[in-house]
Amino acid sequence: MATRTIRVMGDEILTKPCKEVKQITPRIKELIEDMLETMYEANGVGLAAPQVGVLRRIVVIDVGTEEPEPLIMVNPVILESSGEQTDEEGCLSLPGKCGKVTRPNYVKAKAFDENMHEYEIEAEGLLARCICHELDHLDGHMYVEKVEGELHDVETEEETEEEA
Ligand code: NI
Repeated sequence: MATRTIRVMGDEILTKPCKEVKQITPRIKELIEDMLETMYEANGVGLAAPQVGVLRRIVVIDVGTEEPEPLIMVNPVILESSGEQTDEEGCLSLPGKCGKVTRPNYVKAKAFDENMHEYEIEAEGLLARCICHELDHLDGHMYVEKVEGELHDVETEEETEEEA
C-alpha cells in the first residue's frame, strides 16, 4: 500500500466523468488499498478515484460510526433518496475550506465491493451526505457547485475531519 497525491481543485481531472470498472484487476485492488491509505492519512471520511488522478468509478468512505466500514463502492448508483439535510461540507481536494450544502437525508444505493459482489446500502445523515458527495466526484462535480452562501475557512479541527 502507498499513499497517492490528492489532486486539488483546478486540476482538470476533477471535472471529468469516470468510467465504469469492468473487472477487479490487481491494479484496481492496489488502487482501492491506496485510496484507503490516502484517505486515512489525510483524515478524510471519503475519497473518490479521480481525487488521486484515476478516472474510474470507485469511492471509499469511512465516517467512523457506520457499519460496514470502510465502505468500498465500485460502480455505485443511487437508487432512491429522500429528505433533506443542510450542513457544512469539505473536500480533500479543497483543503482548509468548507461551505453549507443541502443533501438528501436518506439514500439507498447499490454498488460492487472489492470482490465485485453487488450489494445495497441504506444510509442516513453523514453517511448519506458522504455517498452523495463522493458520487458527484465520479461525474466531475465538486460540492462547491452546490454551496449555499460563501465558502469559508475551516475553523476547527473537528471540521477538517469531515473533509471528503
Ligand atoms: Ni470531495
